[in-house]
Amino acid sequence: MENELLRLKQEAEEALGGVQNPAQLEAFRVKYLGRKGGLLTGVLRQLGAVSPEDRPRLGQLANDIKQAIEGRFDEKKELLGSALQAGASGAVDLSLPGRFLPFGKLHPVTQVMEEICSIFEGLGFAVAEGPDVESDYYNFEALNIPKHHPARDMHDTFYVTDSILLRTHTSPMQARIMEKQDPPLRYIAPGKVYRCDSDITHTPMFHQVEGFLVDKEVSFADLKGVLTSFTHKMFEKELALRFRPSFFPFTEPSAEVDIACVICGGSGCRVCKRTGWLEILGSGLIDPEVLKMVGYDPDVYSGFAFGLGVERIAMLKYGIDDIRLYYENDLRFLSQF
Ligand code: DAH
Repeated sequence: MENELLRLKQEAEEALGGVQNPAQLEAFRVKYLGRKGGLLTGVLRQLGAVSPEDRPRLGQLANDIKQAIEGRFDEKKELLGSALQAGASGAVDLSLPGRFLPFGKLHPVTQVMEEICSIFEGLGFAVAEGPDVESDYYNFEALNIPKHHPARDMHDTFYVTDSILLRTHTSPMQARIMEKQDPPLRYIAPGKVYRCDSDITHTPMFHQVEGFLVDKEVSFADLKGVLTSFTHKMFEKELALRFRPSFFPFTEPSAEVDIACVICGGSGCRVCKRTGWLEILGSGLIDPEVLKMVGYDPDVYSGFAFGLGVERIAMLKYGIDDIRLYYENDLRFLSQF
């Protein structure tokens, strides 16, 4: 009988270890501790048949074992009870999915910048990046904007010292690259630019992508072809393009490029101020003075350049009407992209 008691104790402990929910716990109770037909109860009943000299010792052992198992049973009951309170339903459902942490995403400006770059890469342009803290020479002088030139007024410059500044555009990359390499060249230069300006269409820091190509016999037709191909891919629509004569010191001739309004298709609306057109970038044929300054012979080489504002392109593509939304870090806005 002693052996049977010990075996039963071990068996009951193992069985209790495997119990995972209240139904299993109840089945355990009936099987081992149940008053009618419970295994432990059954053994205790046999005590009456044991010889009088063995009875006290075996009785004590049987009681100890019963108490031990009841104690473990109560512990398990409490454990399952608190797990039940934690879970909403009547059982601990181990098959429920875990808790998900939200994934971060790229900022919409970064997404659009990457998209612009990949479209130009598809057209054979290489990507180059340059410094945000730039010299007066690359930002202005090398681009045919000498000191005291009125065009400097167009750029509300943040100066660090008299000759060091935060670049006001990505065009300095033209000079930096041409200085080091010989044509043919096809580059785009994405990055941050800075101007002392702030309202619903301007932020003190914004993003531009500069692009340029230098080779023999490059014409305005090449520029038109590249920009048309780019805008059609970017806006996923064959929008009409308009080249409007303009002025930039580093291009001659220069043009600002408009696309047919993405909202009204050209018939005139609030977004395009009833003109049917939206300005998207500045461009032109690289001024011979700029080519001369990097040591190229303008009689042999010619090129085109363009510069576009990333925030502006993203605003038109997604119908965003306030540029400051990009920089308020409101997740309700950012998570839409
Ligand atoms: N750098 C000019 C700006 O920030 C944009 C620009 C205009 C770039 C014409 C060009 C260009 O390369 O050809 O306003």
